[in-house]
Amino acid sequence: MDSLEQLVASAVQDFMAAQDDAAALENAKAKYLGKTGQITELMKGLGKLDPEARKAQGALINAAKGQIEAALTARRDALAEAQMQTRLNAEAIDVSLPGRGRAGGGLHPVMRTWERVEAIFRSIGFEVADGPEIENDWTNFTALNSPENHPARSMQDTFYIEGDDSTGKPLLLRTHTSPMQVRYARSHTPPIKVIAPGRTYRVDSDATHSPMFHQVEGLWIAESISFADLKGVYLNFVKAFFETDDLQVRFRPSYFPFTEPSAEIDIAFGSGPLKGRWLEISGSGQVHPSVVRNFGLDPEKYIGFAFGSGLERLTMLRYGVSDLRLFYEGDLRFLKQFN
Ligand code: FA5
Ligand code: MG
Repeated sequence: MDSLEQLVASAVQDFMAAQDDAAALENAKAKYLGKTGQITELMKGLGKLDPEARKAQGALINAAKGQIEAALTARRDALAEAQMQTRLNAEAIDVSLPGRGRAGGGLHPVMRTWERVEAIFRSIGFEVADGPEIENDWTNFTALNSPENHPARSMQDTFYIEGDDSTGKPLLLRTHTSPMQVRYARSHTPPIKVIAPGRTYRVDSDATHSPMFHQVEGLWIAESISFADLKGVYLNFVKAFFETDDLQVRFRPSYFPFTEPSAEIDIAFGSGPLKGRWLEISGSGQVHPSVVRNFGLDPEKYIGFAFGSGLERLTMLRYGVSDLRLFYEGDLRFLKQFN
């Protein structure tokens, strides 16, 4: 009787001594409850007793066994709990720190211009087309009436790509969106009325020129589209774009190999900080007959205009930004102002 109580006490002590490694506790368990454990041995000894004593002694041993098992379970739980606590402490996060929040994204100002230009031209019946930024020499230059060694090519130095088109000429990053005139006209039938906004590349870098920039090409070809139509369409566009009727548009004679006559389009605001200054925003002209022929069309029958405007330029004028490089420095303090 006494010895059973001692046995329970010594089991409890052994269990308590087992620290965080599970093996120690299992060994302690075996010492009492295992096949040759002390409780098991006592059970085996019951057979030698007479029935009366066996019953009484058996009940006592069972009670002791129950206590030992309960102590074992309690210790197991305590160790598991302690282990969990240690982990929680080690992996603690300080939930009292203020959240970092999820910053709302926004459109880049040049993308805003892009979308705005699309919406305005769609509203007057223009399609919107998209084409490759890696171009071949023929589509970027030759088809646009700038044969090899033509001096006009030097105004548009660009980045060349290893490998070549099927004729052995290097591929290049398109220097303007004008090759889209050729691509679109060769795959559609007149009347052709399309804009093609996109990225363009040149070996340029200063406050108003960036090596990567954006243009929007416009092309309207049918049987009787004239310079007067260009003037009407473009005036309508800039008034809608800048949300004012208080501006003037001027067509200043210029030169592009792919248009004849050619003109730079300048605008002047009637009010605001830029009041009265003529600002160039676009190249334009009547599509050259040779180019119409390269479209696969008869220049005796089809005529029309094209323009190519800088999206950065339009964006700078709309928001009053004086250095184009700000668009590409990724400074959130600058970019956030537009959202
Ligand atoms: C052209 O690129 C002609 N393809 C435009 C054209 C199309 C004329 C159709 C006639 C018919 P230009 O090189 O001038 O022309 O460029 C047009 C506009 O692109 C410029 O007015 C300017 O706003 C913008 N631009 C040109 N180079 C850069 C540059 N490096 N960075 C930012 N904008 C540029
Ligand atoms: Mg120009």
